[in-house]
Formats: sequence, structure tokens, C-alpha cells
Amino acid sequence: MARRILVTSALPYANGPIHLGHLVEYIQTDIWARFQRLRGNECYYVCADDAHGTPIMLKAREQGVEPEQLIERMAEHHRQDFADFLIGFDCYHSTHSAENQHYAELIYRRLEDGGYIERHTIEQLYDPSEGIFLPDRYIKGTCPRCGAAEQYGDSCEACSATYTPAELVGPVSVISGERPVTRQSEHYFFRLRDFEAMLRDWAHGGHLQPEVANKLDEWFEAGLRDWDISRDAPYFGFRIPGTEAKYFYVWLDAPIGYMASFRRLADERGLEFDAFWGAEAAGQSELYHFIGKDIAYFHTLFWPAMLHGAGFRTPDAVFCHGFMTVNGQKMSKSRGTFITARTYLEHLDAESLRYYIAAKLGPGVEDIDLSFDDFVQRVNADVVGKLVNIASRCAGFITKRFEGRLAPRLSAPELFREFTAQSERIAELYEGRDYARAVRELMDLADRANQYIDAEKPWELAKDPERAAAVQEICTVGLNLFRVLIVYIKPIMPQLAADAEAFLNIPDQEWGDAQAPLLDHPIHRFKPLKTRIDPQQVEAVVEASKETLGGDTQGEHPMPEQTGGRLAEDPIDPQIAIDDFAKLDLRVAEIRHAETVEGADKLLRLELDLGGETRQVFAGIRQAYAPEALIGRRVACLANLKPRKMRFGVSEGMVLATGSGGEALWLLSPDDGAEPGMRIR
Ligand code: MSP
Ligand code: ZN
Repeated sequence: MARRILVTSALPYANGPIHLGHLVEYIQTDIWARFQRLRGNECYYVCADDAHGTPIMLKAREQGVEPEQLIERMAEHHRQDFADFLIGFDCYHSTHSAENQHYAELIYRRLEDGGYIERHTIEQLYDPSEGIFLPDRYIKGTCPRCGAAEQYGDSCEACSATYTPAELVGPVSVISGERPVTRQSEHYFFRLRDFEAMLRDWAHGGHLQPEVANKLDEWFEAGLRDWDISRDAPYFGFRIPGTEAKYFYVWLDAPIGYMASFRRLADERGLEFDAFWGAEAAGQSELYHFIGKDIAYFHTLFWPAMLHGAGFRTPDAVFCHGFMTVNGQKMSKSRGTFITARTYLEHLDAESLRYYIAAKLGPGVEDIDLSFDDFVQRVNADVVGKLVNIASRCAGFITKRFEGRLAPRLSAPELFREFTAQSERIAELYEGRDYARAVRELMDLADRANQYIDAEKPWELAKDPERAAAVQEICTVGLNLFRVLIVYIKPIMPQLAADAEAFLNIPDQEWGDAQAPLLDHPIHRFKPLKTRIDPQQVEAVVEASKETLGGDTQGEHPMPEQTGGRLAEDPIDPQIAIDDFAKLDLRVAEIRHAETVEGADKLLRLELDLGGETRQVFAGIRQAYAPEALIGRRVACLANLKPRKMRFGVSEGMVLATGSGGEALWLLSPDDGAEPGMRIR
């Protein structure tokens, strides 16, 4: 019987673009959903933009627009990016929607009726000049434990201490730069601890990967803390029913967005909502959430508890994946490895990335590395050199010599059976999200097909008119093997599969269709199904991604205020030795000349005097400084930064500044008396 399945991916924040890291998740989920449908199951894949919260409110303010406008614009981009990466959502909705408000209020009311909501007055830091309470990540100060400067309000990147923002030494508001004051406010808490027994059962009920279940045990050991689900106005979100100016914290209504998106789909298609979400749905339909390991706490503790407490079913599984690194390192803007979906698509095709990610994704939570050399090599060698090559070696003979008709019999039935016999094995690998293995098995089969053609040498036989039938038969075997592989790879490369189906003149294939060979069947003329990637295309992506200068950040990933424990190991080396610091050649420099750069609205081109030596540096400071105002100013410069070729020229160093970027940016300058060329230490 066909299974009824609902799958989701985490909802991307509506304040930044989709990047290649995100795509790990959407590609992973999409492959799984496509696989389920190909197997004849009823499978829906829903998602939405995560539109609420402080970062979105502030970003809208900064741009001088209403948050509604900002999220609408962003949703447009997100939808287009996903469509172009062939992510086949059945519904892509928004958490800022009527459906979501309905379910957020419903769940909240049921939790309140159940006695799971408590109110407490808490003290929080407040920015008086902005008139808002400050989330932990909007406060910086000195770590109370190790004394490291410039640390966020929740944890120290230098010593990994966690604390409350009130404990920071010399806290300042990131928004205004002002010193915050302490204010009291009443908050609403979800009594997570009431769910401990239920969660312990659930955590060990086969719903989680073993490494995630272990993490939960650590969290249980540490003790479950009640969860603050309210925020004070001004806040972009839903007002809590029965309050004047309290709002649901973004993470309360974000996962409810899964329900909202499905509600929308159910209304469109006449599906029964309760059959997927009702308490009775467990056992009749399946619910799976695909997420990154950074948000496991929300999805494996808060979410199942909320669902259970409000009388809904809990998920059959939460599948966590690791983080994408690029060339072995965290994605970084300055290295040009913070790559947006759009920039990638301007130079490369979506399915190459889909293939590469699939080839690296296993069922665990390990990070996956996108190495550019490996990417080019893998796609060219496997997809073009192995898979598509089978068809291109066989198609020409069939078209030119046999009027495009396949032979009436299969001359190598055992070989064909070797291919079809892998069907269930490969299906299991997809089902268990071991795409890397599925790809490996598939490419081993592609090698087998090519070996067969190598051994049979149809091009030799073609010289002998008497062997014509053999040529047709060999090529018929080759194309049949190709067709089986196309069905196997279809969840990963749906466009390639569709093009191959058109070439083979066959309808939209299902998983089982490849079991019987195509014989005495007319095919179409072969057109190259995929061309090789030129490494220059990858270089172009990196160049285009370098444009803006900035720190090594994950972009605008607004850290949730309460990530709980994190599964990720902190990729930053917590402490460095003095020798590491000594590697930086920091110098006083004088700006001799500054000008805008055509085609780069964030950059200024600077000519720096480093005491006898002149350097050209491109700096992302244009929104903060007029070029004229800079001439003659002395700044701090990193002089031994490896020169970087940018679109506009070579940048030979970096000037130091503070602030979050854009207009909020301040260059660092030495006191009077410091001369160009002097070492900073
Ligand atoms: N809005 C929240 C999720 C709410 S779900 C109810 C959020 N958004 S996000 O845009 O920051 O991330 C969306 C998903 O992309 C998350 O599952 C996150 O783990 C994943 N990734 C973001 N960057 C990533 C990498 N560099 N690598 C792999 N996945 C990454 O979190
Ligand atoms: Zn510290």
C-alpha cells in the first residue's frame, strides 16, 4: 500500500539570501521526497519563509521599509532560487500568514489550558535610545570569565563560557552603541520540564539518529529549562492572545509554519489536515522534518513537546544533517566562499550541485565539504564521463544505421538483470538517506556498462556490414543499461532524467519501470545531456562572491537567542598563542587617495602609504565614508594579507574597522604621532 508522507525542510529566515549551505538541506529533502513519489508513495513536501523576529524588524527599519514589504521581496527571491535548483515544494508559504496565526494561537491556547504556560517577571537589558529590549545577540561586551572583548550576550567565542547578558562587563547595544539599562518585564514560559518523561521516551523511540539521541541525553542530564516564548513590543510577529504588547517569540511560531504550509496545501488540494497532524494520524501517515544540526534543540525538544501538549501527533523522525564547509573551511565572504544560490546559478547549473551534494551526503550529521577541485572532477568524471557517456556512445549508431530503432531482442540479458537487481538495494539507500552510497553503486554500474561497450567494440563491428545486427544489439543493451541508471538517478537529477526520457522516447518513468527492457522501440536523436564544467566557471563564482569585503561570517545567520546546546563543534580555535598573533603584520597607513569603484556599490579603492611603500586596497566602506573625507587619514592596515585578485584589480591588504557593516562601520585610527609604516602590536 502506498505510504502517506509529509516532509519538511527548516524554514529559511526571510532576511538573507539562500546560499549553498542552505541548499544542502533543501537538496537532501527534495531528493528524498522525489524518491518517495517515484516509488509510488503519496508524499508532500512543504516549507515556508521564516518571516518573524528582531533581525527582520531591524533590517526593515534599516532599509526604511515595512517588514511586510521586506519579507515579500525576500520570499520572491527565495522561491525563484528554489525553483531554479529544482526544489519541488508542494507548497512554499510564510510564517507571516493567516494559517500560521491560527495554529500558533490554537497551540498556545491549548498549552495554556493544559497548564503548561507560566508567567514570570524577568530582568532584561533594554536599549533606551532605540526603545527595545535587546536579544542576547544584540548585546556585546567583555567576557566575565576570560576578559575577551567584543563578545555576544550569551556566550564567549574565546573561552566558550555561557552567561546572561547582564553578566557581561561593559555591555553595549549593537544597534545603538549605547549602554543598555536593566528593565523588568513579564514573560511567558512554556514548562518544558513537564514533558521530560514523554521526551525521554520519544528520544529513544527510534525517531532520531543515534548521535542526536545521545545529545538529547546530555540535555536531559543538564536539566530541561522552561522556555521563554514571549517578546515585548516592538516585535515583528504575532501578538499573544489576551495581551496588549506581548508577541510570540519567532521560534514559537516558526515550526508551526510547517503546519500552516500544509494547511494551505490541504485547502488547495482538498487533503485532510488531521490525517497528517491529528493525534490519530500517527501510524496512518508519516511526518519527517529535515534540519541542520544547529537547530536540533528546537526540533527535538520544544517541538515534540508543544505538539504533544497541544494534542497533535509528534514527528516520526527528525533528520539532522551537518554543515557545509567550502574547501575545508567555514564559508567566508572574504575568501569568496560564501556563495549565494543566485551567484552560483549565474555560472553553473543546478544539477551539478545536486549531484555533488548527493555524492557526499550520508545519513549522519558529519559536515560535508565542497571542494572546488573535487566538484569539477566528480561531475565531469561521473556524470559526463561515465553516465551520459553510455548514451552518447550508443545513440549515434541506432540513429544513423537503424532508423532510430532499438533491436527486437536483448542480447545480454544477464548484464541487464545485474542492473535491475540493484533496484531494491539502491531504494534502501535512498530511504536511509545514504545518498553517497547510492551514487557510488550507481557509478559502479555505469563503469560496468562502459566496460561492456569497450569489450564489444560496436565501432569495429560497424565496419563489417554483416555484423550490423550485432551493432544494433550491443547499442540496445547499452541504452537499456543507461535507462535503468537514469531511473536510479532521477531523484537527484530530475532534469537530466526528463531530457533522457525525451531522448529515449519514454514517458515519465517510475521506479519499477526500468525492470523491463525497451525493445523494438523508436528513440530520438541524441543531444548532449550534460556538458563538462570548465574550472573557470567555478573561479567566476568565487570572484563574484568576493565583491563585498567583510569578516569571515556565515553571512546574516541571525543566531536564535536560545540555541540551547549546540551539536556543532565550534570551528573557531578558542585561543591562539602569541606567535599566532605575531603572524599578523599590522601597520599604520595613511590614505593617500580614495575613490569609488564602478560596478561595486560597497567598495572604495584606496591607495595607502605604508611608509615609503604604496599599496592598493579595496575596502567595503563606501556606505560609511565619502572618499574625499578619507584622504590624509591614518588607519590600521593588515599588511601581509595575501594579495587578492578582484574583479576591479588586486587588493594588497586590508584596513581595519569595527561595526556590523554598511553605514554602521568605523575605521580604526592611531593617535596623533603614529607615522605611516609603524608596526602595530
Ligand atoms: N529559520 C530557522 C529555522 C526555522 S525551522 C522551524 C533557521 N533558518 S536558517 O536560514 O538559518 O537555516 C535554514 C536551514 O539551513 C537550517 O536547517 C540550517 O541548519 C541550514 N543551514 C544554514 N547554513 C548551513 C550550512 N552552511 N550548511 C548546511 N546547512 C545549513 O535556522
Ligand atoms: Zn571568555
